[in-house]
Amino acid sequence: MMEHILVIHGPNLDLLGKREKEIYGETTLPQINKLIRKRARELKVEVQIKQLNSEGEIVSVLGKERNWADGILINPAAYTHTSVAIADSILAVKIPAVEVHLSNIYKREQFRHRSLIAPVSLGQISGFGELSYILGLEALVWFLRKNK
Ligand code: DQA
Repeated sequence: MMEHILVIHGPNLDLLGKREKEIYGETTLPQINKLIRKRARELKVEVQIKQLNSEGEIVSVLGKERNWADGILINPAAYTHTSVAIADSILAVKIPAVEVHLSNIYKREQFRHRSLIAPVSLGQISGFGELSYILGLEALVWFLRKNK
């Protein structure tokens, strides 16, 4: 069986490559998605990738795809630090989630040190640029296969 992985990029991640390059690097979102798709093919999992700028849309997608998705790979971006709604959705759908960040959020401003998503996730990968997504995908697939 090919596991289904729902990949969610939160707000402003559509601007990668243009936005604060010293923090987020030069890689664009389409380039990151290409890397994710390549690794997904190698791992033999199916991915559905979405970039959403609003909290409500993220909540809606989690609800809508709850029967399709076996795992969630999510960079909640700024909502990491504020969203009870997204944390509640992850709990509600009961699908294993891995949280990823391009930057190391613990090296940055104090308000980024707290994640409301981490306590409802399997784990978090933070600080490895686009590689965070690949490491996160590998961790998620490893977990799903180990617990089959
Ligand atoms: C981010 C870190 C967040 O603090 C920030 O709001 C982002 C991106 C990251 O990938 O490093 O938008 O999630």
